[in-house]
Amino acid sequence: MKPAASEHLLQLAQQLTPDLAARLVAWQAESGRHHLPWQQTRDPYRVWLSEIMLQQTQVTTVLGYYDRFLVRFPCVLDLANAELDEVLTLWSGLGYYSRARNLHRCAQAVRDLHGGRFPETAAALQTLPGIGPSTSAAIAAFCFGERISIMDGNVKRVLSRVLAWGEDLSLKVHERSLWQAAQLLLPAHAADMPPYTQGLMDLGATLCTPRKPSCLVCPWSDLCEGRRQGEPERLPLKSGKLKRSQRESWCLWLQHGDEVWLVQRPHTGIWSGLWTLPMFDSPERLRDAHPGPTETQPPVTHVLTHLDWRLHLERAASGPGEPRPDTRTMQPCLSEAALGEGRWWPLSQLDQVALPKPFQRWLSGN
Ligand code: ADE
Repeated sequence: MKPAASEHLLQLAQQLTPDLAARLVAWQAESGRHHLPWQQTRDPYRVWLSEIMLQQTQVTTVLGYYDRFLVRFPCVLDLANAELDEVLTLWSGLGYYSRARNLHRCAQAVRDLHGGRFPETAAALQTLPGIGPSTSAAIAAFCFGERISIMDGNVKRVLSRVLAWGEDLSLKVHERSLWQAAQLLLPAHAADMPPYTQGLMDLGATLCTPRKPSCLVCPWSDLCEGRRQGEPERLPLKSGKLKRSQRESWCLWLQHGDEVWLVQRPHTGIWSGLWTLPMFDSPERLRDAHPGPTETQPPVTHVLTHLDWRLHLERAASGPGEPRPDTRTMQPCLSEAALGEGRWWPLSQLDQVALPKPFQRWLSGN
């Protein structure tokens, strides 16, 4: 009988052990990344912070945020004891704000349930808010040398190519098989786990890229089953594409002197708890809220994982000597009920408000 696909996968992984790991560790030392700030430490607080920031954000963007967070919150207790609003403000612009909320909850769980120290195994780390299987594996491998494989998008690509694993990874059963194979490929010694794990990330980021992988300089090229079979760039299998949705909103930039009217979003859904310009579902609703003249500004599209959000902008400015615009008509017209009424914020203090990126850009003029 023909072996099941997953049996074949595990056999192949077994055959490639320990060569793959040894070559990856050597390649990482020679050609990988070594100067990222979170590589200079084994402190789980710092590694955890970097891994959460890097989940949906590029390294170059993370660098500045990472430094600012550590200046303000040098250890996990400083973060746990801070107000959520301050954490969200420092996070603003990084996007996917549930990460910041979970970051704060996780720091509090470390303080309250673990005596202020991060647990030292992937299994225990995974019980904390916002830490999933791949993040827990990264922290455990980097900080404690645990023999456990990360499995983020880059690693799925690298391993499905080297093992020619063409099954649909959106199905849990196939993802689990790949993870089992990944476990077989790990280096034997704990001391090799940090460079091996970083090597997987570096290979995915620099050589084994989604399109046009650089196979000629890859340390695995002569062992790579995907390459041997031809067209490794076709792996991993693209599963049924997520259907993206579209949404449109009309935003009102109401300015009086050097103050702008902002409202706080509800504690649910996208941008929960963040401050934005008032947002409406149609230009008519915006007019109901503010019948006076406005100037139409260029719209922007904010791209999220499943959604293209078209944001239109109408601006109305009055001088400080003129009466303040009436904002009482605003609340019932908003797309979503706001927290509280909203408030006038001086433009010079917007660095103290958690604003999503498009609003930061508009209000700061860049
Ligand atoms: N992406 C996720 N973790 C990373 C790390 N430690 N270094 C670079 N990129 C990453």
